[in-house]
Amino acid sequence: MNLVTGCAGFIGFHVSSYLLERGTPIIGIDCVNDYYDPELKEARLKILNRYKDFTFYRFDLCDYAKLKEVFSSYSISHVCHLAAQAGVRYSLEHPFVYQKSNNEAFLNMLECVRHFGTKNFVYASSSSVYGCNTKLPFAEEDRTDEPISLYAATKKANELTAHVYSRLFGVPCSGLRFFTVYGPWGRPDMALFLFTKAILCGDTIDVYNHGKMKRNFTYIDDVVEGIARVLAEPRPYAIYNVGNSRAEELMDFIHEIEDVVGKKAVMNFMEMQPGDVPATVADISKLAELGYEPTTNIDVGIRRFVDWFREYYKM
Ligand SMILES: NC(=O)c1ccc[n+]([C@@H]2O[C@H](COP(=O)([O-])OP(=O)(O)OC[C@H]3O[C@@H](n4cnc5c(N)ncnc54)[C@H](O)[C@@H]3O)[C@@H](O)[C@H]2O)c1
Repeated sequence: MNLVTGCAGFIGFHVSSYLLERGTPIIGIDCVNDYYDPELKEARLKILNRYKDFTFYRFDLCDYAKLKEVFSSYSISHVCHLAAQAGVRYSLEHPFVYQKSNNEAFLNMLECVRHFGTKNFVYASSSSVYGCNTKLPFAEEDRTDEPISLYAATKKANELTAHVYSRLFGVPCSGLRFFTVYGPWGRPDMALFLFTKAILCGDTIDVYNHGKMKRNFTYIDDVVEGIARVLAEPRPYAIYNVGNSRAEELMDFIHEIEDVVGKKAVMNFMEMQPGDVPATVADISKLAELGYEPTTNIDVGIRRFVDWFREYYKM
């Protein structure tokens, strides 16, 4: 049995669908919080609930007793822990949520996988752990000791705690540093969603650092493929970048959305946001050793997102 936490979230929904499609029974846990529109999460859950092999539990992972109950009720061999409070900008205003959902819940997960003998614990870290590193591309061995947001600090703390559980208790832990994941059913707080919506509605978009940003936009299907490979290959302790093979200039990304939507964006150029970094570029050679090879370019990925967006929101 596989457990996916954060299954009502963007990445968790896609990972669960992928595994269910391939005949793997899934236990999903999510508290369906209102960080963004819970209706979108409910719509994702509605799709997952169509699979007879999907069992859903709605609770907060900070509830250790409930989590232990789930682990006692099933023989859980693989865990994909994606539930967390995401968002760099939100962490500036809501620090305590990160302490609960990213640190406390993470420890609860590790305690369970330690005591219930899980074969592989795979969890979401983030490219934000690279902080202000200027050496590009970012490689897993690079220093990650200088995070510049609380969000990044909690993700780095997860990697360190996983290391302890791997060394002391032999829990096989693999951390995934995701690089700006995008695609259908994507998060409403992320650039592609915000830009598409604003361009369609004729609203202004905020473009930070005057557009001088570089991002490794990574299409969701490629990410899910990478996650599946790591889940299938337990390692005593590993960290992987999960990114795209090429990075895009933010302005090129915006122009691509304009082309697909068929309308020009009205742009409001802004200073860099605190906690944000000008460039994230991934060295993905380590995950490539497991056969990972992202194949979706932004023109294809953006089109698929915009098609989904128009249909879902009837725009
Ligand atoms: N999407 C990206 O580009 C990206 C980049 C780097 C890292 N990540 C990480 O990947 C993971 C998945 O991200 P996502 O984009 O799918 O985010 P998401 O917000 O769509 O999904 C996270 C889900 O976790 C649930 N959740 C949060 N706290 C919980 C708690 N305490 N108990 C139970 N459920 C809880 C939320 O309700 C949500 O449905 C997160 O850990 C995130 O930090 C994502």
